[in-house]
Amino acid sequence: MSLTEVRDATRPTAGTKVTPQSLLRSKHASTPITAITAYDYPTARLADEAGIDLLLVGDSLGMTVLGYDNTLSVTMEEMLHHARAVRRGMQRALLIVDMPFGSYQVSVEETLRNAVRFVKEAGAEAVKLEGGASQAERVQALTSAQVPTVGHIGLTPQSLYRMGGYRVQGRSEEAAAHLLEDALALERAGAVALVIEGVPREVAARITSVLTIPTIGIGAGPDCDGQILVFHDLFSLAFTKQPKFVRSFGNAQQVIRDGLKSFRDAVTLREFPSDAESYHVRQGAPSVAAEGLTTATEEALACA
Ligand code: KIV
Repeated sequence: MSLTEVRDATRPTAGTKVTPQSLLRSKHASTPITAITAYDYPTARLADEAGIDLLLVGDSLGMTVLGYDNTLSVTMEEMLHHARAVRRGMQRALLIVDMPFGSYQVSVEETLRNAVRFVKEAGAEAVKLEGGASQAERVQALTSAQVPTVGHIGLTPQSLYRMGGYRVQGRSEEAAAHLLEDALALERAGAVALVIEGVPREVAARITSVLTIPTIGIGAGPDCDGQILVFHDLFSLAFTKQPKFVRSFGNAQQVIRDGLKSFRDAVTLREFPSDAESYHVRQGAPSVAAEGLTTATEEALACA
């Protein structure tokens, strides 16, 4: 085989590529892993250039960018569409794509077929699916098919109806022991990492210390090997009340609201666009008929 390195001169040097193997090294070196959801080209590019290790095209896009009530109606085609955009924006990070509800529940064959689409059609480097020991067979099949797979246990949003709402999981000793069994089953099946969502800190810490694969926490306390947040929560772009584990790292909603109001005011006051933001006819240029601009005149207008 031959390896061709492709460089984009408009972008900063990407740095060392994140891989499932480098994630393992991070765990063993106790270097925290950073992860964020991304749904489009600009956010993928910003996150990648900021040195975030994992970009997850989460099915949370159903709520954050498509305005659905929950993740259950997100389709394969929607995930593919967003994953392709994210792929085009990133170089260094590892691209993980969520398998949407219905794409892996029916059979192992269908799971494989859908995961392979993410790899072939969107450049996914790993897929993520929700559930514990009951998903071990699928994780094993994906691993055998050379598709790195990330597990997701605890508060699994696709189990909304079974859980009876978005509730913290693993609070009783029995439930915590169950989660640990789930985590071990996924690791044995070949999962390369495990997302732990909405569980007590102590439970996530115990799972993290027992597993050899990295854990990535969300609402699971600080003792996981890495942390992930939803992009829209990180920048106050969500419209719902935030759970206690979310921290806002910037108020993009306010920036956008202020900017939109300024734009509206500038237009209604006829202050935008200014003369300097307008094109002008060149002195001595050939006269322009209302229709039928010559190519030369069009070029002159574009540059003037
Ligand atoms: O879809 C998503 O955003 C996720 C994260 C919450 C881990 O699965």
